[in-house]
Amino acid sequence: MTAADTSSKSDIADFDNEDSNRSSNRHFSDVLAVNLGRRGLLAGGAGLALAGALGGREALASGLNNSGVAKGLLADSHFSTAEVKSMLARPGFAAVAINRSNQITVPAGYTARVMFAWGEPIGANGPAYLDGGLNSGADQEQQIGMHHDGIHYFPIVNRPLREQRGLLVMNHEYIDQPQMHRNGPTTVNGVRVADEVRKEIAAHGVSVLEIVQRGGVWQRAFSFRDRRITGATPMEITGPLRGNAKLRTTFSPTGTEARGTLNNCGNGFTPWGTYLTCEENWAGYFVNRDATRPREHTRFGVPSSASRYGWETVEPRFNASTVGANAESDFRNEPNTFGYIVEIDPFNPTSIPKKRTAMGRFAHEGCVFAQPVVGKPVVFYSGDDSQNEYIYKFVTRGVYVPFLGVVDLLESGTLYVAKFDDNGSGTWLALDVNDAAFRARATAANVVFADQADVLLNTRLAADVAGATKMDRPEWGAIDPANGEVYFTLTNNSSRTAAQVAPANPRGPNPFGHIIRWRETGNDPAATSFTWNLFVLSGPQDNSRILPATQNRPLNADGIHASPDGLWFDRAGLLWIQTDMSGSQLATGPFGNNAMLAANPVTGDIRRFLIGPVGCEVTGIIYSGDMRTAFVNIQHPGEDGTLGWPDGGSTRGRSATVVVTKDDGGVIGT
Ligand code: FEO
Ligand code: CA
Ligand code: CA
Ligand code: CA
Repeated sequence: MTAADTSSKSDIADFDNEDSNRSSNRHFSDVLAVNLGRRGLLAGGAGLALAGALGGREALASGLNNSGVAKGLLADSHFSTAEVKSMLARPGFAAVAINRSNQITVPAGYTARVMFAWGEPIGANGPAYLDGGLNSGADQEQQIGMHHDGIHYFPIVNRPLREQRGLLVMNHEYIDQPQMHRNGPTTVNGVRVADEVRKEIAAHGVSVLEIVQRGGVWQRAFSFRDRRITGATPMEITGPLRGNAKLRTTFSPTGTEARGTLNNCGNGFTPWGTYLTCEENWAGYFVNRDATRPREHTRFGVPSSASRYGWETVEPRFNASTVGANAESDFRNEPNTFGYIVEIDPFNPTSIPKKRTAMGRFAHEGCVFAQPVVGKPVVFYSGDDSQNEYIYKFVTRGVYVPFLGVVDLLESGTLYVAKFDDNGSGTWLALDVNDAAFRARATAANVVFADQADVLLNTRLAADVAGATKMDRPEWGAIDPANGEVYFTLTNNSSRTAAQVAPANPRGPNPFGHIIRWRETGNDPAATSFTWNLFVLSGPQDNSRILPATQNRPLNADGIHASPDGLWFDRAGLLWIQTDMSGSQLATGPFGNNAMLAANPVTGDIRRFLIGPVGCEVTGIIYSGDMRTAFVNIQHPGEDGTLGWPDGGSTRGRSATVVVTKDDGGVIGT
């Protein structure tokens, strides 16, 4: 979500746009999914999780032997040679024209259908959705969460022929109280109604849903694997901050456990078959009214007067003020248990999610890994989505070994932050208390870090000290399967001044956003230097640029867009861009409703593929293994008060997962 839309949520701070940086610094993915889907493994019964993960790694290892995208596609029996040719020439559809309709628009020859929406039951016995905010908090705990965001598909294999089956796992970023409760949020004598708070906490987090395609139609399976992970689900703290004094609370005096995950925006997954959910704008869920607040709260924008939803009036853990004699007797440290990437084993419904503190604590938008190489560390990229924050990468200490099942590679490694130099080169700066350069800069800045755990707890401050480049709100990242280049969306930045522009963030203010890309030195994802350039300056035709060498021209009517956010490469190298405009940009002007566009990274051909309904953000995309179905999330439709999508009539808007297919059965994007 972003700013504005104040008519229906004036009580909600503009929490995507917080600027708490006071420093002076200036998917290959679906190869795994596809290959997973082609392996014969037993679905159901003992050893399922291990089997699923094993299949993924075996497939991945074999995939790595394919030297190029085309070779890989040609070796895949899903596709004919003619089809591969058309896949490599995408986008091949006719772009849809901008509109502000309260419906989904897709190109001629494609169909979009809602598969499921917020509030529908989990498993076989969950309670049904009731329009008008009539479901209870207990209901919501057994229903699909609100405001779908990042999504991933994990195939389940060894199913009947002609059937595709898998797990869709998705984030539920935040809530809209006017849509959620009968008459919006209720407060009595300064205290929130307890069941409303229960419902709001339960609507956050992650859903795991088993789906199956029968007779060509995708539907939910309502299986035992369906699961809700919410803002209250017990989780384990792992990595350097496990057991740290700053993570001790009444709930976990040992500092080893936490409750829940919140504001899960973009997502990721791992080569070993687990899901990554990312904690983005978590700070606003808390309040700390102490006269003196610690840096691990202030640098992340934990409010000093009022929390976003007033949960602390019912749930003491959201009050981070000092009220007890020590940390073990209050929740002063509760915000320190948020800001992480959380790893979830989706195939094991009783697995405990793990907060991976080694990967840093900030407003993680998403998490994407570079193509893993056997015997080398695995590299993950993650952006910190607030104005003037940074882009990070994490290099695991352990190395990638196929066939090991679910592993703890995210337990330890080195965290780096990006510095984009004006000449097109860049440096990864280690946030490592034992790194001489980092220590020298900390000393010069008169900033003390007691140990590496302290560095990670205060990741933003550490990045300030290291000299990272302030970016225009880093959102999702994506890896080009053809050459390993890393793309990141920088959604917009209203606070950048004309005096603060530099080649990597060239507009001040930047109302439209841009996409940056880089190549690691020697094509080694673990390298400490890189070269970068811009892929696109988003915006209208008179203030935009598509920048591949073959282009360097303004965007045309087919490709104009603003506030790029979601970003994903399919395995054949087509780049999907999803927009998250808000406020006046959404209501008026040249862009229409939020949309999803396909881009060819070589030719710079960008075409609008899907337009969402009124008020929504389009965010989250993944394919089925055969690339003939796209699952796309529509978030907060009707957030502006518009009724009727997806259920029609005067029903309330609700977030939904949409299935997009080509009417002739072809590959998406052709
Ligand atoms: Fe939740 Fe950065 O978008
Ligand atoms: Ca956004
Ligand atoms: Ca979002
Ligand atoms: Ca986002």
